[in-house]
This record gives sequence, structure tokens and C-alpha cells, in this order.
Amino acid sequence: MGRVLVTHPLPEGATDLLAAAGHELVEPDGRSLVEWAPEVDGILCLLTDPIDAAVLRSGAAGRLRVVSLAAVGHDNVDLAAAAALGITVCNTPGVLDESTADLAFLLVLAANRLASDAERDLRSGKWEGWGIMDHLGQDVWGTTLGLVGYGRIGRAVARRAAGFGMEVLHHTRTDTGLPGYLPTLHELLARSDTVSLHVPLTPETHHLIGEAELALMKPTAVLVNTARGAVVDEGALARALERGELHAAGLDVYSREPDVDPAILSAPRTVLLPHIGSATVRTRGAMARLAAEAVGDVLAGRVPAHTVTA
Ligand code: GLV
Repeated sequence: MGRVLVTHPLPEGATDLLAAAGHELVEPDGRSLVEWAPEVDGILCLLTDPIDAAVLRSGAAGRLRVVSLAAVGHDNVDLAAAAALGITVCNTPGVLDESTADLAFLLVLAANRLASDAERDLRSGKWEGWGIMDHLGQDVWGTTLGLVGYGRIGRAVARRAAGFGMEVLHHTRTDTGLPGYLPTLHELLARSDTVSLHVPLTPETHHLIGEAELALMKPTAVLVNTARGAVVDEGALARALERGELHAAGLDVYSREPDVDPAILSAPRTVLLPHIGSATVRTRGAMARLAAEAVGDVLAGRVPAHTVTA
């Protein structure tokens, strides 16, 4: 049986199946991941754990066979190093799509309607009663939503948008052949009232939305990011908001979490959430169980449900 490092406390019962299969579960004790890696067969971790080449090399010099992330995004793992060292990397797609799409749609609504500004005014005692000119946001119903990336989460957002009578466009690198597909990001940015990002962070998508792309968006447009912070050039976004070149932004992710760029914190018309896309009791439980199951599969010589490769 194997020894598995569980890097953070997980929802109750998530690792029961590993314990029941006879694996030894160990918790961090102040030592670094590089120090731990050679001493375990598996690492069950989160997106906040940097699984870089040093950790993987150290693990491969010992007995490490699997790194399983309770997350769908895997930009914290050096996949090329893992592949070269023969270490399997697993993630948890599928179980978090609907919760993350709910959160993305929450941001679509909240940013268009300037909900955070309105709540801030109420809480700070600035609200003087119903005012016909106060807190004027934008309608979401009947407008155009542009999805950048059209995987499971993007499609789940599209389903929600249908209920709001929205026209839904999407752009991906390869033609989906589906209604609403646009071959260029530029056209999608120019035509959308709200743009929502659903791409993984890769060298190609780093700062995919920068100054030039923001300039293509309508001055009334809203940008929503529930993917990864570094897909957006946050400085350029803050400047566009300051200059009134965008209506608003709804963000759940940041490039240096948990630090948030001060320019974003002080930019006007933003709804800012602390990376809670998948944060529901049911979904986080499902993610943790799926990640634990994958460790058990690899250690038992079975093919895990989801692996990620470079
Ligand atoms: C959350 O951001 C995830 O990748 O699961």
C-alpha cells in the first residue's frame, strides 16, 4: 500500500476510500514539498501548491508516482517535468462545471448591475432612498455574451445565458462547428456586451486580454474572469476601467493570489471575489473525492478518470 501526502485539510470523508484501501495518509509537518516528495507515493494537493520541476525531480528520485489536484486548472504543475519523470498528474474536470458557471453568471449579473458599488453605498450609510437616477447599471437580459473558451464551463455558462434571452457567441482556437462560433477573438470582443473567460492558463493564454484587446471591447462592455488571473493584463484592465473605456469587470481570479493588484482594488465598477468559483459544499466535496479516487487508482495500477498531459 502507498503513502499519500494530503497537503491541506479536505472535506470530511474525501480520503476515506484511500484509508479503507490501506494507504497511509500523511499531513504536512512544516517540511517543504521538495522534502516530502521522495517520501510518498502520491501527493493529493490543491491549486495553491506549486508542484514545480524541483518537487517532481525530488519525488522521482524517491517513490512519487502520482500528483492529484483537487482542481481542474493545473497551471501550478510543471506538466512537462512530470511527463519526463513518469509521474501521473490528475485533476477534477466535470464535477465543478455547474458551480463555476453559476459563479461566472453571478459576476455577469453583478458587474453589469454594479451590485458591489450599490451594496457598498448601502453599508456605508450613503443610501438616501430610492432614486430614479441612482445606481444605474446595464441590462443583462437580451444582450450579447461572448465566451472565450468553450469547454465544459463555457458551455454551462451558455446554458444559463439562454435563460436570459442572450445571444451567445464563442471563440476557441479550433472551430467548434457550433452556432455562435467566431473564428477571431477580435470579432468576439468587438461584438459582445459581456465577455467571460473560460480558457486554461498556458503560455498562449497569458495576457490574452491586454490593452489592445480591451480597446476592441465596447465602452459599455463588461469583462468577467473566473478562469485564471494572468489571462488578463490586470494593469491594462484597471486603466481601462479608470478611463471609462469599459462599463465594469467581475473577477474571481488574480495573477498573484492571494495578493490582488492594488490597481484592481482601487479601480472603479468592479465586483471582486476571492477565487470561489467552485466553492459550494457539494462541489468541493466532489472535487476532493475525485482527486482522492485518482490517487487510489494510480497506486492500484488502474487508469484514473482524468489525467493531464503537457
Ligand atoms: C479552480 O480554479 C480550479 O481550477 O479548480
